[in-house]
Amino acid sequence: MFAPRMKDIKMSGIRKMFDLAGENAIHLGLGEPDFQPPENAINALKKAVDDGCNKYGATPGMPGLRDAIVEKEKRYRKDLTRDNVVVTAGGTEALMASVFTFIDKGDEVLIPDPGFVLYGPQVRLAGGKPVRYPLFEENGFVPKIEDMRITGKTKAIIVNSPSNPTGSVIDEKTIKAIVDVAEEKNLLIFSDEVYDEIVYEGKHHSFMGKYDDLIYVNSFSKIYAMTGWRIGYVMAKEEYLREIAKMHYYTMACPPTPIQYAALEALKGSQDYVKKMVTEFKRRRDVIVDEINKIKGFRCLKPKGAFYAFPSFTFNISSEELAMRIAASNVIVTPGTAFGQNGEKHLRLSYANSLENIKKGVEIIGKVVEGLR
Ligand SMILES: Cc1ncc(COP(=O)(O)O)c(C=O)c1O
Repeated sequence: MFAPRMKDIKMSGIRKMFDLAGENAIHLGLGEPDFQPPENAINALKKAVDDGCNKYGATPGMPGLRDAIVEKEKRYRKDLTRDNVVVTAGGTEALMASVFTFIDKGDEVLIPDPGFVLYGPQVRLAGGKPVRYPLFEENGFVPKIEDMRITGKTKAIIVNSPSNPTGSVIDEKTIKAIVDVAEEKNLLIFSDEVYDEIVYEGKHHSFMGKYDDLIYVNSFSKIYAMTGWRIGYVMAKEEYLREIAKMHYYTMACPPTPIQYAALEALKGSQDYVKKMVTEFKRRRDVIVDEINKIKGFRCLKPKGAFYAFPSFTFNISSEELAMRIAASNVIVTPGTAFGQNGEKHLRLSYANSLENIKKGVEIIGKVVEGLR
């Protein structure tokens, strides 16, 4: 009855732990900021709805919004125009439309492991074969070319910086190395940069402007805490974008109209909102990393971006089992294996929660593992 492509496609393991915890559980499992969107964006959304902006719009998105996105992204590449942007339903649809535009039966696509949960299933749904490249703690979870299994069938490399789940940030030298290999082997690069503004040390390095055969994905979800509004975008050279736009049309028709007004307002308004959020996340990051490292048996690198800590542990237990025991004590964390086999012996802790809850949550984790040593 079901199409064969659905075989072996499972729901993401990220939410599995949610069902195990009680109502008052402390959530260190959330993949979204615990803030509300900027007030000016909320008001723009209300106004757009009241003004009757509730109809279909242009398939690639409102010209005004695409122009504003171009203005922003000129930080990475000066010759962009609105023909290089399609506004999508979040980074999720941006990635799906792009993968479906380029990947077909037999194509191999390199994806990070541990890496965000969308990449593998999206590649498989398109008929391709995800080939995982490991990210190691000892390398700060930054990819190494020698860990990428490039074959004659490799069509694309998916990269993600800052990374979910590790919080690592890809440095300029590694970007150059990946671009050089992609150029030599004639590969596409899909770069997922939805956390680009959430970086705590130094600055974000983009793949944009470094490679022509690039599909660049970004989103308003994390930066403006509007995950539920489902708005993001994909950028690429015009000939690529024209094809991606077709896939987007047959999936979405167009991005949601009133939400585009809100996103435009968020871009045009003061960016102090983003700065404040990043400052708060940094404060929490420093606390969560310190607190986890106080627990014997855990080791946590300081994540450079996003809002996740990805500690490793030495207890003789799988990451799923450990996450389940922690959930039984009413703290939700995500097992590292939800992001691939290389996530084993790791937990992902989101610090998109109050300092108080972070401290309480980590204290409970400390108690849970006392019996495991
Ligand atoms: C690395 C990464 N990429 C893409 C997404 C998709 O985000 P959205 O579709 O809300 O833009 C997420 C969300 O968690 C993410 O963590």
